[in-house]
Amino acid sequence: MEFEGKAVVVVGGTSGINRGIAEAFAAGGARVAVASRSEQKVADTVAALQAAGAAEAHGAAFDVRDAGAVVEGLAGFHRAMGDFDVLVSGAAGNFPALTAEMSVNAFRTVVEIDLMGTVHVMKAAHGFLRKPGASIVNISAPQAYLPYEGQAHVCAAKAGVDQITRTLALEWGREGVRINSVVPGFIEGTEGADRLAPTEEAKAGVISDIPLGRLGRAEDVAGMCLFLASEMGAYVSGQVIAVDGALYQRGSGRLGSMIGEMLRGAKG
Ligand code: COA
Ligand code: NAP
Repeated sequence: MEFEGKAVVVVGGTSGINRGIAEAFAAGGARVAVASRSEQKVADTVAALQAAGAAEAHGAAFDVRDAGAVVEGLAGFHRAMGDFDVLVSGAAGNFPALTAEMSVNAFRTVVEIDLMGTVHVMKAAHGFLRKPGASIVNISAPQAYLPYEGQAHVCAAKAGVDQITRTLALEWGREGVRINSVVPGFIEGTEGADRLAPTEEAKAGVISDIPLGRLGRAEDVAGMCLFLASEMGAYVSGQVIAVDGALYQRGSGRLGSMIGEMLRGAKG
């Protein structure tokens, strides 16, 4: 797909799935901007976007928990590129932890990054979106609608993200802005997958649950984001769309209890 002339912003776009999404838009000739906390990861990704074919590549380092920094960062992207055609919001934090054992601050940290970070990005971006025409993708997770032991913090935060998606589809649809959540399945070679299933044995257990018989790839998720950003997705808004090889048609499956078993095993 061609995205020449389009301005694409990917928040949390400097590693894993989100970086794969940014690179896919770059390969389509878009002008692409990425942001995350690490200056080094931002600089490396900007170079990679240029190498992938981006018409322009921009970067900024900020923490999505800091509402003012998000406003400043997105304003900088707007000065550089003009109105955003595509906004992908995917910054997230996750670790396995049982609710009774994690601190209140641990729970709050994930809510602050995943849920409040999304709120900060949506509010800061609203004035910079192309109207009509912009397409927003919030990167969600199956934890939004399935329970997993050791993931109550992520389950609560990502459920909130999907409800923001649905509500903004109503509020901003009248301005010609579309918004959807994309839910990656279990994506190979990513921080998120490694944190929840750290061993080869655990990954093999997940793969045996996947009807399509393989882990997902960042390109699989990127393909859905390109579709939603294109004219082909012009009438799709307010949806939560899984790209998961049908894994979660089974519910949370082995992973739903495996994380809890891992944590209880670690306690001995
Ligand atoms: N188990 C239980 N609690 C944990 C934890 C774990 N594995 N890791 C962190 N915490 C707790 C900390 O102890 C702290 O709570 P406390 O103040 O009561 O001690 C709280 O969480 C915040 O930790 P801190 O390390 O200060 O947070 P941070 O802001 O530096 O980092 C994280 C945020 C914890 C989410 C970190 O893992 C991160 O940066 N993740 C980004 C990458 C990622 O998670 N990728 C996967 C995306 S799905
Ligand atoms: P990842 O590589 O850790 O990517 C997370 C990105 O967010 C990084 O660019 C990180 O960069 C940035 N980030 C983290 N905290 C931030 C903060 N406070 N402020 C700004 N940026 C921040 O993770 P991933 O596994 O690819 O996951 C990407 C997305 O997919 C997440 O939304 C996750 O919930 C979702 N997901 C992943 C999977 C999976 O299988 N991996 C499955 C379902 C859903 P810095 O460290 O520089 O900040």
